[in-house]
Amino acid sequence: MASKPTDVRPLNTPGPFEWPVADDEVREALDAAYRDGSWGQYHGPHSEGLIGDLQQHFSVEHVSLCSSGTIGIELALRGCGVEASDEVILAGYDFPGNFRAIEALGARPVLVDVHPSTWCLDAEQLANLRGEKIKAVIVSHLHGGLADMPKIVAIARERGWQVIEDACQQPGAQLAGRPVGSWGDVSVLSFGGSKLLTAGRGGAVFTDQAQCHQRMKVYADRGNQAFPLSELQATVLRPQLKKLAQRNQLRSQRAGEICQAVSHLSKWLRPVSCQADAQPVFYKFAWSFTPAETMPELREELLAKLAAANMPIGAGFRGFVNRSERRCKKVGSLKHSSQLSQSTILLHHPVLLAQKNAALQVAQSLDYLVRQMVT
Ligand SMILES: Cc1ncc(COP(=O)(O)O)c(C=O)c1O
Repeated sequence: MASKPTDVRPLNTPGPFEWPVADDEVREALDAAYRDGSWGQYHGPHSEGLIGDLQQHFSVEHVSLCSSGTIGIELALRGCGVEASDEVILAGYDFPGNFRAIEALGARPVLVDVHPSTWCLDAEQLANLRGEKIKAVIVSHLHGGLADMPKIVAIARERGWQVIEDACQQPGAQLAGRPVGSWGDVSVLSFGGSKLLTAGRGGAVFTDQAQCHQRMKVYADRGNQAFPLSELQATVLRPQLKKLAQRNQLRSQRAGEICQAVSHLSKWLRPVSCQADAQPVFYKFAWSFTPAETMPELREELLAKLAAANMPIGAGFRGFVNRSERRCKKVGSLKHSSQLSQSTILLHHPVLLAQKNAALQVAQSLDYLVRQMVT
């Protein structure tokens, strides 16, 4: 049992934690785009340069830039040749747009459970799954957890399914010595305003398969590119990509320090964790507030306290367990997806680039508020 919360009253949470952070190279890129007029162009050297950078960084053959991660997932499904009446496997806990992307093609999501440690699709759940109509599986790396791609890719190969790897939350992560985003038959990044590589909006789709790349290109061509990323967006992404590894390293260190600082509450705050050969990156850092796995109102109470203290911690995804059976198929009980939809709290990444003291003050406040509720 944790001690009564009488010792610390740290609710002077530091912040605001800014994002995007000030970056001279980004400002210089914007100035240069203003001077040379590329800010007003559809396509040009900045987009081509970004494509080259991404090909190299992620060791992939083809890169398509696009308008968002959400559209990227839809393009990926189209690139894989998914059609109306096909089925696509999706985790029961995932980004809501991924469910909608499957529906946008007229296809049907088949929901499987997530692993409770990683928050990601559980490879074991795929092992016994078969179905004539299944064409692809979408696998997202979420909240500092990484999906077991070697196992998932092996099962998918055996069944003839295409793997769509959603790396929107984890640019720069590594798994078994390979970049996350290079495991899928087709993989997707987001450059949305809150993301680790940001252009306000935007995305990219990677594949080594020429046919997949060509299908996406044909679909997006409406006389010009219908889901574009502009020159201006491309130019601010290039300097950020150069700094990604260094920033990811700092974020990982801070995530470890914060996690450690509240580890004495592990009975109530269960942190995301990964395989031994994984190096996740942190866009969000997840804990399950375990009392809420059975009593969801407790998480709402904790979230209200966190918001009142200006803590940069919010709720996880709502998940798909309660979606109608008319819209999707459900495999098994989806127990973990259900629990995590109720209990997940997420620390936002700008805290992880702050000074250690500021980050630890956030941990202290979290500690204080959780103990107020559980003791
Ligand atoms: C896992 C995941 N996939 C896809 C997306 C969609 O990206 P975008 O906001 O660029 O549409 C997000 C956005 O948060 C995400 O977290």
